Amino acid sequence: MKLFTPGRIGPVTLRNRAIRSAAFEGMGKDNNPTDMLRDYHWSVAEGGVGMTTLAYASVNRSGISFDTQLWLRPEIVGPLRLITDGIHQRGAKASIQIGHCGNMTHWRTAGGMPVGASSGFNLYSPTIVRGLKPDEIKQIAKDFGDAVRTARDAGFDCVEVHAGHGYLISQFLSPYTNHRRDGFGGSLDNRMRMMRMCMEEVMEAAGSDMGVLVKTNMRDGFKGGLEIDDCITVAKELERLGAHALVLSGGFVSKAPMYVMRGEMPIYSMTHYMPQLWLKYGVRMFGKMMIKDEPFRELYFLDDARRFKQELKLPLVYVGGVVSRQGMETVLDREGFDFVQMGRALINDPAFVRHLSEGCERCGCDHVNYCIARMYSREMACHKHLDDLPKGIVREIEGIKARDGKR
Ligand SMILES: Cc1cc2nc3c(=O)[nH]c(=O)nc-3n(C[C@H](O)[C@H](O)[C@H](O)COP(=O)(O)O)c2cc1C
Ligand code: SF4
Repeated sequence: MKLFTPGRIGPVTLRNRAIRSAAFEGMGKDNNPTDMLRDYHWSVAEGGVGMTTLAYASVNRSGISFDTQLWLRPEIVGPLRLITDGIHQRGAKASIQIGHCGNMTHWRTAGGMPVGASSGFNLYSPTIVRGLKPDEIKQIAKDFGDAVRTARDAGFDCVEVHAGHGYLISQFLSPYTNHRRDGFGGSLDNRMRMMRMCMEEVMEAAGSDMGVLVKTNMRDGFKGGLEIDDCITVAKELERLGAHALVLSGGFVSKAPMYVMRGEMPIYSMTHYMPQLWLKYGVRMFGKMMIKDEPFRELYFLDDARRFKQELKLPLVYVGGVVSRQGMETVLDREGFDFVQMGRALINDPAFVRHLSEGCERCGCDHVNYCIARMYSREMACHKHLDDLPKGIVREIEGIKARDGKR
């Protein structure tokens, strides 16, 4: 089985082909790492993956969405170094996803008015947004480069640039959020300009000793967003810019959030933890309308990912609905992808890869998505490991399972 063979991402060799995807842990405190974040990633490294990815670290202050998210800056190099040392001692490599959330934040969290590709209102945050000025875009690109240098100081082997899911780079790429009339808007080539500037800084900072992955969309997942042909053009541009591997994903948090992960969003569970009453009851009333369900099936991105495989030469990482040995064999051995990433399978069982090597066939994740609902206000956790869940949440989980059973 190819899963258990070593593989390379740029200058970095992983002991096997399984990577823990960037799935936001919500375990930071005041944008700093914590012991809980350390322990979780150590457990994933111990559980047998080739590499684990710390999720969704912001490259600067304006790019932060949550207080529990990391802000990658020199002040946190010490505690991050402790985390990466422990990951290495357990035989895995360490990566960190770097990005800027753009319009997915609030004034207080971002330390000023949220910024994005264009001015407007983002209903999902909800917030008023100011379009970035060209010199600010240049500074953000430099912040991406600085984040890579900080990641190196903190002992990371790789960085994963977040260019998908409707965060800032993706907001520039998508015609849905980019209405600019200057050199950063209009044609796809112009809309790729911001991504190009960031990637040039990232590749220069990565030099010859760090691996660079980019998480990119294969479709934005709604009418009016990027479709597959344009996303292939973006992927080819990333290949030309020197990325070492692409993580093939899709979806847009402010328009089609469940396109990324599929299944139902447990709205009651999500609102249960929300402290602001206006938001809690607003989301309970309108959540189902705003967050559309997307049916889950194993390897749900495979058809689109195949097209990228035909068009590109660089290593490709498959992500989306990897839950079983058979699924991994399909992706790696039969379809020829270079790596698999897993989010929920490793939230459910951090030792899933080791368990596979011991004969396990499938992880215990049921794709009810409680972990996603919880992410907005609590640290990451799988409902299967919590035995004190409120009754309303248990009822919702049972209801989703019953509906899934009938599909
Ligand atoms: C709780 C949770 C948090 C996530 N946070 C992020 C994130 O911070 N960055 C990102 O690129 N993807 C994020 N994702 C998406 C996953 O990385 C992955 O692309 C997606 O869940 C599909 O993989 P899976 O079917 O193996 O879970 C998150 C997923 C989950 C379940
Ligand atoms: S909470 Fe549900 S979807 Fe998330 S990892 Fe656990 S079983 Fe899977």
